[in-house]
Amino acid sequence: MVNRLIIFGPPGAGKGTQAKLIAEKLGIGHLSTGEALRNEIKSGSELGKKVQEIMNKGHLVSDEIVIEIVRGALKRAEKGFILDGFPRTLGQAEVLEGIFREMKIFGIKVINLEVDEEELIKRLLNRAKLEGRADDNEQTIRNRMNVYNRETKPILDFYSKIGNLKNVFGMGSVEEVLGRVLKVV
Ligand code: AP5
Repeated sequence: MVNRLIIFGPPGAGKGTQAKLIAEKLGIGHLSTGEALRNEIKSGSELGKKVQEIMNKGHLVSDEIVIEIVRGALKRAEKGFILDGFPRTLGQAEVLEGIFREMKIFGIKVINLEVDEEELIKRLLNRAKLEGRADDNEQTIRNRMNVYNRETKPILDFYSKIGNLKNVFGMGSVEEVLGRVLKVV
């Protein structure tokens, strides 16, 4: 099994849900940039206040901030990692390749969760009722989908060319999706 993974997909695809389970199963670190940013907001720091404004609109936080988070987390991930929510732009993907080279990290696999848009919206609106995440409202969800389609989706081509992309059907129960993911890693 590969212990260096990137989990990829649109908002609501199940990246966080699957990454947590895979990390537990493989005994590796789960590095979620969204989670790290939400923790920064909770800390009440000045940086957190700036981040909150950006996230509540569904826009991307600056590369500078997220790259620092990822670099620090990778240094601590001695037993392997699953990156969730990063990279999100071609620029971030290129920087990440540089970090991997610098840290001599090889043999990465990218898991792309494929889920219909209608199901994505349903999941996020459902989570809005259950958890009340600030960016799970209709307007912000629409913005997040647009940002994904415009800025994040093109990264799939990048990984497809490198040859380490694994597409996984992300519909069905959490357990069914997990089974499919574990088969390809
Ligand atoms: P982030 O936290 O990464 O949010 P996201 O990509 O929009 O993804 P979500 O957390 O909404 O969905 P997910 O795919 O993880 O699915 P989940 O498992 O939660 O980023 C948030 C924001 O932070 C960004 O908008 C941006 O502002 C900023 N940010 C983060 N990274 C950044 C970066 N690299 N650069 C710049 N800015 C960055 O599941 C969703 C729901 O569905 C849950 O309720 C779950 O229980 C449910 N569910 C999961 N699987 C299933 C299933 N199989 N069946 C039914 N329900 C399911």
